Amino acid sequence: MKMKKRRATITAVGHFAPEKILTNADLEKMVDTNDEWIRTRTGIRERRILEHGATSDLCIGAVENLVATSGKTVEDAEVVIVATVTPDMFFPATACIVQEKIGAKKAWGFDVSAACSGFLYSLVLGAQFIESGSYSKVLVIGADKMSSIVDYTDRNTCILFGDAGGAVLLEPSEDPGYGLLDHRLYSDGTGGDYLYMKGGGSLNPASHQTVDNKMHYIFQDGKAVFKVAVIGMAEVSAEVMERNGLKGEDVAWLVPHQANQRIIDATADRMGLDRAKVMINIDKYGNTTAATIPLCLSEWWQCGKLKRGQNIVLSSFGAGYTWGAVLVKWSLANPSKP
Ligand code: UT7
Repeated sequence: MKMKKRRATITAVGHFAPEKILTNADLEKMVDTNDEWIRTRTGIRERRILEHGATSDLCIGAVENLVATSGKTVEDAEVVIVATVTPDMFFPATACIVQEKIGAKKAWGFDVSAACSGFLYSLVLGAQFIESGSYSKVLVIGADKMSSIVDYTDRNTCILFGDAGGAVLLEPSEDPGYGLLDHRLYSDGTGGDYLYMKGGGSLNPASHQTVDNKMHYIFQDGKAVFKVAVIGMAEVSAEVMERNGLKGEDVAWLVPHQANQRIIDATADRMGLDRAKVMINIDKYGNTTAATIPLCLSEWWQCGKLKRGQNIVLSSFGAGYTWGAVLVKWSLANPSKP
């Protein structure tokens, strides 16, 4: 008898966004910008800022929300994966800090550096552990304290980013027709010239000079990244649909990385999706890097809009370049108290 494939599925989801809000009006007082420019070029109205604490605190907030909304335990998690470009420190891994704080004594874990695609890379990695049969409870977290690497005198970048965390629990699917059905992930190192943080690593260790030259902040050539992102995210999303014989009407939700409303719209158009089927919260949070996708999933699930049996396409593009898309048949029933 042919063995059925063991499939990973999302069995719980949670998110955390800090309370402090930084609005476009606030930014108008800090740099030469204006609300109209930010809204029309990006879709962002405000973003959240973590005033005290580090990325691991964003992770813990998301995991606590996951536990509270699902009734699942995390002390028995076997693997903890944290996607982030703003780890608490170079080492130890933020995953180890989280593992200790949540009391997952038997878990091992590691961080994944893939910028805005970090959550999708980590989700696919986590699913492999389940599909191989090696582990049955994997916590995948995407979190970034972008305010810790943003230059608030640079109008090109400071209007874009915010802080947040999101988490999902992966377990074997009871029905192999549900869960992570397919994925395509890519990278292209030529993108390294257009979106980076040069200081602090082994190439440019921290020094007075690296600080004076503002090398510990994000640099982005927005126009160059935009051109590639708009094609990359649209094409990989369409590719995952085509590989699985899906048309626009078969997909319930696009869950896109939230970098720019215009990139998201182009992706939805390429997929033949009605705009009403696109999860958008960039207006409230800006670009929270590894957190955007789980943050959307959690908000949509908690308000009952994400339903069991729906086909959803998660899609991202970010520094590296890194990009990809994941097809999920959603298995989690509506929350009892939305
Ligand atoms: O998440 C990781 C991947 N990242 C992305 O996907 C981001 C991709 N890039 C983008 O989303 C867009 O390129 C940005 C939102 C970053 C910028 O939008 P844009 O339409 O590409 O603007 P631009 O950089 O071409 O700038 C247009 C004009 C320039 O003025 P001139 O040269 O035309 O006179 C800029 O100096 O807008 C000016 N500008 C601003 N004006 C007001 C740039 N930043 C601002 C600002 N406020 N904050």
